[in-house]
Amino acid sequence: MLNFAIETARDAGQILLEKFGRKINISKKGDINLVTEADLASEKLIIERIKSYFPKHAILAEEAGDAVLLDGVNTWKWIIDPLDGTTNFAHGYPCFCVTIALEHDGEIVIGVTFDPTRNELFAAEKGKGATLNNKPIRVSETESLSESLIVTGFPYDFKQKENFARHLTDFLLNSRGVRRDGSAAIDMAYVACGRFDGFWEEGLNPWDVAAGLLLIEEAGGQVTFYNGEKYNIYSPPICGSNGLIHREMLEVLR
Ligand code: IPD
Ligand code: CA
Ligand code: CA
Repeated sequence: MLNFAIETARDAGQILLEKFGRKINISKKGDINLVTEADLASEKLIIERIKSYFPKHAILAEEAGDAVLLDGVNTWKWIIDPLDGTTNFAHGYPCFCVTIALEHDGEIVIGVTFDPTRNELFAAEKGKGATLNNKPIRVSETESLSESLIVTGFPYDFKQKENFARHLTDFLLNSRGVRRDGSAAIDMAYVACGRFDGFWEEGLNPWDVAAGLLLIEEAGGQVTFYNGEKYNIYSPPICGSNGLIHREMLEVLR
């Protein structure tokens, strides 16, 4: 099933790449929340592929919603973001990906994130580690927040997130820098391979974080809620890190 997820993410990524930089249809889901024909084409390919190979599996996809199949006993669920980084994509900024995870009995067992512009394929399987283009990856060894490069995302409804500005200021004052690249799935893949030391964000959805959660954990890192409790993809906010700076991050997020 890992190979299936990898092949599917690569093929969907190819669709994104073919449409990237061209004039495409864009519509609005909210004031600043976009959906493009690339999101829809990528998602169509992924859903059709899953339905043909695993017809009894449930699917949770960003654009199609929760299409849980009711036939048969269903303990498998594919969780899909066909294009994470839609705003970047729509503006020609090359930071976006396809991200696919598989949940079994409530636990993420496979996570794949593919960045087609850099041809970088991040993959993880429960208990078997994480890889980037087939080579094992580990989180960074940075031991303090003051030496860390941190990444975050600005939620679409950030005006309602009153703590966000305080968290951002505190991380800016206490780290080497804070980045905001516009794709939560890439942010988390970069924590898994040590490019970033930590990540926090409010208001994400399960499809943004499902693969990244497994990537970070399998690469030796840690993902929790802001209070330090075990993370659950269905209820944000999220804090992920290399594990070594986690306690310091949670102090900021208290
Ligand atoms: C968004 C990206 C972004 C995050 C937003 C997400 P989308 O996903 O992951 O980094 O800050 O909260 O919704 O809409 O591009 O799939
Ligand atoms: Ca997303
Ligand atoms: Ca998306």
